[in-house]
Amino acid sequence: MDPNPADDAAKTPVCAPAEVWHNGMLSPQYGRIALGCPEAFETAEPGQFLMLGFPETLDPLLRRPYSIHALSLRTGTSLRVEILYKVVGPATHRLSRLRPGDAASVLGPLGKGFRIPPHVRRLFLAAGGVGIAPFRLLLDRLEAAGGRSRIDCRIFFGVRTAEELVCIRDIETRGIPVICTTEDGSAGAHCRVTDPLCEALEREPPDLVLACGPRPMLSCVAEITRRRSIPCQVSLEERMACGMGACLGCAVPARGVEGPRFRHACVDGPVFDVAEIEL
Ligand SMILES: Cc1cc2nc3c(=O)[nH]c(=O)nc-3n(C[C@H](O)[C@H](O)[C@H](O)COP(=O)(O)OP(=O)(O)OC[C@H]3O[C@@H](n4cnc5c(N)ncnc54)[C@H](O)[C@@H]3O)c2cc1C
Ligand code: FES
Repeated sequence: MDPNPADDAAKTPVCAPAEVWHNGMLSPQYGRIALGCPEAFETAEPGQFLMLGFPETLDPLLRRPYSIHALSLRTGTSLRVEILYKVVGPATHRLSRLRPGDAASVLGPLGKGFRIPPHVRRLFLAAGGVGIAPFRLLLDRLEAAGGRSRIDCRIFFGVRTAEELVCIRDIETRGIPVICTTEDGSAGAHCRVTDPLCEALEREPPDLVLACGPRPMLSCVAEITRRRSIPCQVSLEERMACGMGACLGCAVPARGVEGPRFRHACVDGPVFDVAEIEL
């Protein structure tokens, strides 16, 4: 089962105004915003992203990349696109202050998303912090395609502290186990998310691991899956200026001796097989 739609024509990115439909904080640092976006987003793949900017002020000037968190109800010709965000700097601070009716501008859907081959029966998802964002759309797509009935899926979710454990109820109500870890021990196991992941890889090796989070976590996930020859795809949260392959600012060293020496996270990724890149 492939949760990704195959109609490439429908994946052409669009640049368009997007009206804020809803925005609210889930915890002191995390928020979720719903935007009215063009229909072109309807076929976005889990793991694809959009670049979001502020057309009225152009401050900050550059758009920032965000994973597509959820897609739902269409109203007229607009589609509800949700983004889960963590406030870390000027753009995300501004994002957190948008109110219903405000204007944003979106470019997307962009990049290559996660791929789940049809033979996959056991799937592990590993998320670090706001890296949980693309997995909501992935689970929605799995459910819609009937994959949840035959794929044993579980999520390993690591954060710094308890208040960052957002979206858990939404996942657990689907009957998917969530193994939580915190770096300060305030909830779940007091360790890094790669510790329980590593134990589970030993005990019950999955057919595929998908991971999204900070680079050190992804490096560790790549290493522990490569060591066990378990297929793994990672979604990189590189810094991006254009999001479309023009500035070459998101270069990632390629793995192996043949082919290009660099891949670009915005067009070749952000999701890569760990065999493709150096982490
Ligand atoms: C494909 C992709 C998907 C993403 N999805 C999401 C998402 O769903 N939700 C979300 O909140 N964020 C996501 N990000 C990260 C998001 O783009 C950045 O957090 C955002 O650009 C920060 O902008 P800012 O102006 O608020 O902070 P900035 O001033 O740009 O950064 C604030 C601080 O965070 C650090 N920082 C910023 N971006 C990164 C990064 N990518 N990696 C490591 N450190 C960084 C900076 O070095 C600085 O210290 C994603 C990034 C990519 C590439
Ligand atoms: S962000 Fe410009 S090439 Fe990737």
